[in-house]
Amino acid sequence: MASRTHFIHKGILFPATDIYTVEHLTYIEDEFQLMDDDVVNVTYPKSGTHWMAEILSLIHQDGDPTWVRNVLLSERVPWIENIETKDILLNYTPPRFLSTHLPLQLFPKSFHHSKAKVIYTVRNPKDVLVSFYYFIKAFKFLKDYARTLQEDLEEFLSGNRVYGSWFDHVKGWLTMKDKPNFFFITYEELQQDLWGSVERICRFLGKELTDQQIDSVVENASFETMKDNKMSNMSQVSDKIMDHSKGKLMRKGKSGTWKSSLTVAQSERFDRVYQEKMRGVTVAFPWD
Ligand code: A3P
Repeated sequence: MASRTHFIHKGILFPATDIYTVEHLTYIEDEFQLMDDDVVNVTYPKSGTHWMAEILSLIHQDGDPTWVRNVLLSERVPWIENIETKDILLNYTPPRFLSTHLPLQLFPKSFHHSKAKVIYTVRNPKDVLVSFYYFIKAFKFLKDYARTLQEDLEEFLSGNRVYGSWFDHVKGWLTMKDKPNFFFITYEELQQDLWGSVERICRFLGKELTDQQIDSVVENASFETMKDNKMSNMSQVSDKIMDHSKGKLMRKGKSGTWKSSLTVAQSERFDRVYQEKMRGVTVAFPWD
């Protein structure tokens, strides 16, 4: 539901902050030109966006961590829907690495006539729910957002939340799965085999890295390293926006942590809605 903390654009809820405007969202959808050598990191929030942005930054630099240690992640792989990054987008020397949480229907239309590559990372939705629940406590502009886990669960299942329904987001983007410029991976695959995942991402990007360079990507994109990298861990976000004592980006960095937050009844309720909403989806996810 729209409130003073949110607005609705084409049926999708956005936080009512300076960084999102209907004008900019419309510009991104209708006018923003993706280039053939762009790489876009697409996720539903809390699915591993920063992790993939770090991996892409390191692959681009052949495993050399200098860029990720010295330039903010939001400048290396800027969010296209964020109006504050408009200048970065326009002045970015190609190839550009971009991030977005936009659902497919709000993504730049120019994608459909370009060879721009999309990497779509999906995560177990129960972990997405729990990760979001803890993270959002730190955001001052969302302080009157529904705040018990039960309320959050119901919002998640109804789809009445920022960036819309997880189910619609995933189903929408997966319609692209047979396109040669679309690559689909899960957070869980990154967890299970980061080295092999980096190798697959490189193959998709047409980038050849040596084993030592892949080792360096894996080491520098690890949870332990990223947690301490102030260019990547959101610790530089202004205190006006984020209360760093209430939540952080690099929280647990594991799969399945929902088990210590959701009750059995909540998990079963989630499963019932999940089965119903994902009926007909043929992709096998690691959590199914
Ligand atoms: P948790 O809250 O479960 O710890 P996003 O970047 O889309 O906001 O996703 C944030 C989630 O990704 C957080 O999950 C965070 O810990 C996790 N994450 C970020 N970097 C990671 C890394 N290098 N390895 C594993 N998980 C990572």
